[in-house]
Amino acid sequence: MYSLLIEGGRPLEGEVTISGAKNAVLPLMAAALLTREPCVIRRVPALSDVAFMVRILTAVGAKVRSQGDTVSIEANRIRGFCDYDLVRKMRGSVCLLGPLLGRLGQAKVSLPGGCVIGTRPIDLHLKGLRALGAKIQIDSGYVCAQTRRLKGSAMFLGGRAGPTVLGTANVMMAATLAEGVTVIQSAACEPEIVDLAEFLNAMGAQITGAGSPTITITGVKELHGAEHEAIPDRIEAATFAIAAACSRGEVTLRGARPEHLHAVLDKLEEAGVRLDRAGGNLTVKGGRRLRPVDVTTQPYAGFPTDAQAQMMVLMTQASGISILTERIFETRFMHVSELARLGADITIEGPSAVVKGPSVLSGAPVMASDLRASAALVIASLVARGRTHVKRIYHLDRGYERIDDKLRRLGARIQRLSDS
Ligand code: EPU
Repeated sequence: MYSLLIEGGRPLEGEVTISGAKNAVLPLMAAALLTREPCVIRRVPALSDVAFMVRILTAVGAKVRSQGDTVSIEANRIRGFCDYDLVRKMRGSVCLLGPLLGRLGQAKVSLPGGCVIGTRPIDLHLKGLRALGAKIQIDSGYVCAQTRRLKGSAMFLGGRAGPTVLGTANVMMAATLAEGVTVIQSAACEPEIVDLAEFLNAMGAQITGAGSPTITITGVKELHGAEHEAIPDRIEAATFAIAAACSRGEVTLRGARPEHLHAVLDKLEEAGVRLDRAGGNLTVKGGRRLRPVDVTTQPYAGFPTDAQAQMMVLMTQASGISILTERIFETRFMHVSELARLGADITIEGPSAVVKGPSVLSGAPVMASDLRASAALVIASLVARGRTHVKRIYHLDRGYERIDDKLRRLGARIQRLSDS
């Protein structure tokens, strides 16, 4: 198990290259199961979640080869079973359900279970697949789905907190091979869904409307192999942007797509952070004084829940009271008690965190609870006086490619320790 030892107080300066998006790549890899022909996915980040997905695809019979940031997948002969031991380690593996059902007419995938950010049901995934004609039962912790041939249908996939990202991905993938036309209303509009639709269309699917709340999929008989480059990771970009701002540094995010980051950049500017978009690059310049801001997380194009914990650190450095309301995963505040150990003044009131700043943070041992909470602790450590020991960072390695190397190149004093 690794941990990070960080000595704070230095502004981040320089350039960082944004990696491929974890949350785009996982469904893209699953989509390769929809065809017998080889698929090639580029800009795949070296993450433990990606390594898990490789293991899962191999376990269902696909041949997977990785070379640098390119992954080739050939799913000539596959089976529709995915074991609990693999699935429980990564919730993203639920997106195998759609492709397996579409391609084989059957899928038995372990229920992913909850995680620290909430209960994470999959009722909307099942509702969508049932609307396509699948017979689904939950049996001994497995989702068992079966169909002779999926049939296109119109469906509404909005839930209590809005649309579902992986639910939309699952239904969209299954519907590519269904008979007839499927219309998903209240579809997720995230850039990762657009990326997936582009890959599926390159494989021969007929999808229109991805990126809007109504997606139309006209089923085809079969899909063929294709090549695709994943989009850059907007949450990694947001994380480095917020880290640069909090450290009062100046960082250029190479490869970031500002058009995927409107809500985050808008709040950074409101907080007094300067942004330079010259030459197609995005440069973030942290000012001396940060202003308080109020943020509510929402489905895309709103402020992403995956950048909420990181933004909370910025609020601890702003002069005044900021209110952060979490509307996607209402218990996603596990980082608050750890930030308080570093000296942050945060009170939870229902779905909101009231953050009083500016706080002088000081280094302490802290424990990471999930991926984005870990990122927040790293940003807080960069700001804190003295040394912070961030423990249990396997969460970080799930979703950030070599974050310690990238930060070190920006001037951070950060050391990876192997705790035996
Ligand atoms: N929901 C339901 N029923 C469902 C599915 C979702 O009620 O069947 C609810 C959830 O409980 C939540 C909301 O709908 O309140 C949105 O959840 P969504 O299904 O969109 O989340 P997800 O698809 O499981 C993806 C990302 C998450 C990210 C969310 C929201 C992947 C692999 N995961 O999860 O990423 O937070 O969308 O944007 O794409 C992360 O990267 O740290 C992470 C957790």
